[in-house]
Amino acid sequence: MIAILGAGSMGRLWAATLPAGQVAFVPRPAQSPAPEHYDFSPVSGPSRNITIPWLSARQTPTTLLVTTKAGDTLAALSCVLPALPESVPMVLFQNGLGSQQQVADTWPNRPILAAATTEGANRPRPDQLIHAGAGTTRLGALTDTGKAHRDTVVEALKSSGLTVIPADDIMHRLWQKLIVNAGINPFTAILDCLNGELLQQPFFQQWIEPLCNELSQLLEVAGQPAQSPRQLRERIEAVARATAGNTSSMRADVLAGRATEIAYINGYLVRLAERVDMDAPVNRMLTHRVKDLI
Ligand SMILES: NC(=O)c1ccc[n+]([C@@H]2O[C@H](COP(=O)([O-])OP(=O)(O)OC[C@H]3O[C@@H](n4cnc5c(N)ncnc54)[C@H](OP(=O)(O)O)[C@@H]3O)[C@@H](O)[C@H]2O)c1
Repeated sequence: MIAILGAGSMGRLWAATLPAGQVAFVPRPAQSPAPEHYDFSPVSGPSRNITIPWLSARQTPTTLLVTTKAGDTLAALSCVLPALPESVPMVLFQNGLGSQQQVADTWPNRPILAAATTEGANRPRPDQLIHAGAGTTRLGALTDTGKAHRDTVVEALKSSGLTVIPADDIMHRLWQKLIVNAGINPFTAILDCLNGELLQQPFFQQWIEPLCNELSQLLEVAGQPAQSPRQLRERIEAVARATAGNTSSMRADVLAGRATEIAYINGYLVRLAERVDMDAPVNRMLTHRVKDLI
């Protein structure tokens, strides 16, 4: 049984695609045991009804998928892990960086893996899940004990039919995704625009170059392979063009009045810079501007 903590968009995508009967959501304390029903629209093909039970106290999962937002993850796991044997591997799906390290630092002996996924899912209504875009999920170990579980977990998740591959350097994957998120998400939230509309916006044009200067320096601080500001800008703009019609998760959160993950994207970069006495004024400005939106 694969357990999923966080029955939102990402959690429901895995729940709908993993083999029926082998997956359950992890309930909050005192939550109603009635199963979750929703309508699942795959990328292609007809939609179908999905019913997912909640994990009972008697069941021990083989794997725990953690699909809460970055800011909720530590608190959610603190409720769940006391009842979960130390041998059960868990996979962290959070965007950005910072929450994964918090979890690995808090439970260093547990088998912890991280996923960097380009799958896209959203919930226009609470009882509807749309698989908006098929992507790739890369999985790698964050703790030493996680390494032995990686390939087994990859195989288990492949039974979903989604593309799942092992990653030897998951931190590199997470950093690559962080760079793109840091260069697109805050701008789309502040400017209230689609990804593809960014490139014409004077505010984006004003700040993308100094932002990429900071990102390039921070990659070095983090011990990641060097990338020039120009390379980073080209990558960010290429992704904005390739996803031109998309609303970023950060813009969607702002529009819905939900907390954003800015503290784990540009906010993480500000904290990293502070640790090495480096200034990151553009990341700081973007973090403040996004925080001011809610
Ligand atoms: N959606 C995507 O396409 C996508 C793609 C790549 C990465 N990600 C990443 O995946 C993570 C989840 O994203 P999402 O879009 O699935 O967010 P989401 O739809 O907001 O889902 C998060 C879920 O976690 C639940 N939750 C919060 N605290 C909990 C707790 N203590 N115990 C149990 N459940 C709890 C929330 O319940 P309530 O709503 O009741 O609070 C919500 O159902 C984020 O870090 C995101 O960046 C998402």
